[in-house]
Amino acid sequence: MKIHIYEKAWMVGSLGVLVAFAAAILGSAVAQGLHPPSHVETIDPTTAGSDPRFSATGVHQTTDGAEVIVLAQVWAFIPAEIRVPAGKKITFRLTSPDLVHGFQVVGTNVNVMVVPGYVSQVTSTFERPGEYLIACNEYCGVGHHMMAGKLIVEAP
Ligand code: CUA
Repeated sequence: MKIHIYEKAWMVGSLGVLVAFAAAILGSAVAQGLHPPSHVETIDPTTAGSDPRFSATGVHQTTDGAEVIVLAQVWAFIPAEIRVPAGKKITFRLTSPDLVHGFQVVGTNVNVMVVPGYVSQVTSTFERPGEYLIACNEYCGVGHHMMAGKLIVEAP
C-alpha cells in the first residue's frame, strides 16, 4: 500500500500532537501534583452544619500538619480566615449545605468543587509563607462575587 507523502506528514503531525498532550497531562500530574479528586464521601446536606464531621470548623493539628474543616455556603466560607503552617501537609475537608461552590486557593494547586451531598477533600503543602486569596469559582447566585476567604501561611 502506498501512502502519499502529505498523508504521512499529517499522520506524523497528529501523532505528535497526541504525544504532546499526553506529556502535558503527565507533566502536570507528576511535576505540579494536579490530580482529579479520588475521594468519595457522602453527607446529608440538610444536616451538614450539625454533622459531627463539620460541627468544628477551622484548623485542627495533626501529627504531620493540619486538617482544615470548611463549610462553603451562600455566600461565605466558614471560617473565612484560615491560618496554617508552611511546609506541612494540610488537608482541607469541605462540604456545602446549599449549592455548588468552588474552593480555589489562588496561586496554589488547591482547587476543588464543593458539591452538596459530598465531602470534598484535598491535600497540599504550602512552601511559601504569605496571604492567599480563597475564591469561590463556581457561580452560586447574586452574592457569588463576594464569596471569598483568606489563607494565611505562616513561616515555621
Ligand atoms: Cu459560592 Cu460562587
